[in-house]
Amino acid sequence: MAKIQKAYTCGGCGASYRRWQGKCDECNEWNTIIEEKATVSGAPKGLSAKKGNSIELVSLDQPLEQAPRILSGIAELDRALGGGFVPGSAILIGGDPGIGKSTILLQAMGALALKGEDCIYISGEEATAQVQMRANRLGLSKAPLKLGCETSLRDILSTLDNTAPPKAVVIDSIQTLFADHVESAPGTVSQVRVCAHELISYAKRKGTVVILVGHVTKDGQIAGPRVLEHMVDTVLYFEGDRGHQFRILRAVKNRFGGTDEIGVFEMTGGGLNEVTNPSALFLADHNAREPGSAVFAGIEGSRPVLVEIQALVARSSAANPRRAVVGWDSGRLAMVLAVLDARAGLGLAGCDVYLNVAGGLKVSEPAADMAVAAALISSLSQIPLPEETVVFGEISLSGDVRSVSQADARLKESSKLGFTRAMMPKAKKAGASDIQEHTLVRVTDLVTHFFPDGIG
Ligand code: TYD
Ligand code: MG
Repeated sequence: MAKIQKAYTCGGCGASYRRWQGKCDECNEWNTIIEEKATVSGAPKGLSAKKGNSIELVSLDQPLEQAPRILSGIAELDRALGGGFVPGSAILIGGDPGIGKSTILLQAMGALALKGEDCIYISGEEATAQVQMRANRLGLSKAPLKLGCETSLRDILSTLDNTAPPKAVVIDSIQTLFADHVESAPGTVSQVRVCAHELISYAKRKGTVVILVGHVTKDGQIAGPRVLEHMVDTVLYFEGDRGHQFRILRAVKNRFGGTDEIGVFEMTGGGLNEVTNPSALFLADHNAREPGSAVFAGIEGSRPVLVEIQALVARSSAANPRRAVVGWDSGRLAMVLAVLDARAGLGLAGCDVYLNVAGGLKVSEPAADMAVAAALISSLSQIPLPEETVVFGEISLSGDVRSVSQADARLKESSKLGFTRAMMPKAKKAGASDIQEHTLVRVTDLVTHFFPDGIG
């Protein structure tokens, strides 16, 4: 007879334990381990008991039958997906509460429905009237979208099985679903895992696009087991500062396209609007005459994006000066500060340093090192950077400026936005654009620009 054993699972990383303990040994989180009933049916019998069926093995050059991608018509969303929805794929979309996950998905499904595609939106969080009200506000009340408010996985799957497979189904959110054959509360690791597994196999079986909304934990990871991210084909994160109206949809995993591709949106009274030229938007309030500000020519996914990097350096009398970073990695800032101190003798160790990437974008490229360094030195010296100048380049620990990828794409975008000069590492194809290139070989070259008479 099947023996029910108690199992203890970490809600953060999914590690399982035989006994309860306060701290998870895998992810070092406290109080995340909860009891779950696991159905372990006695001792495993081993695979030798029964022969399996042999599977068909094929070669790689078999002709492919590829269904065309489904375009939502929201270009920024299609871009983040790597060129539209792939039939039969499972997509997970995570983000802070209130960032706009439900809004973007309702807009996408509404747009698809208006194009005549069969789409279903299932909300486990909001009542029908609430979703209808939102659709009204988004101007989608006439869209032939099928709406359901349900949390029972069994009922949802039965409903789906009783109709012709739709093109796309949205489940908002996976944490609210409840499978009645699993004995734990909705949102727990085993519930999330079982519900996601059933829905993903539905997607593969019927060729429907299944889009799951996932909540995020305090530190910004999708709640529930990490395996959820392994199970789906595409993981999108919706980022953005709630204080700003910009929202960035970023692909962190995509089996059908590049990762780190972003879609940029603006939250307005009538829903999310696409931003087709993000650089212009991020630089809207840029004032080149302010010291402490540098324009970084970056690459996000496949497209160049210009952002303003702002720094404030102030002398501090504290033993441990303050370091605060928004939109960049604080470890990376510590490295740039250390290199500027050790190789250029700037003496930043005794200063409070604040760094901000304007507009709420999170920059992760090492190519931003030089722009950060330029903003820091400009703030320290109170000398603004020359006007119409962009900066990029990676800094190595030795103080050398290393070349970065896609320099010509960065220069082209800068030129399009009216910049005329670039402080950059040595590029392979120099002079390919009409931008005047100032080649930097070492960080000290940047320092010489601000302190031509030496640091005094
Ligand atoms: P929502 O999509 O409900 O967020 P999530 O599903 O990620 O929790 O977004 C809700 C926020 O968006 C809410 O704070 C109000 C704002 N909003 C607008 O500003 N304009 C709109 O047209 C809509 C629908 C929402
Ligand atoms: Mg929501």
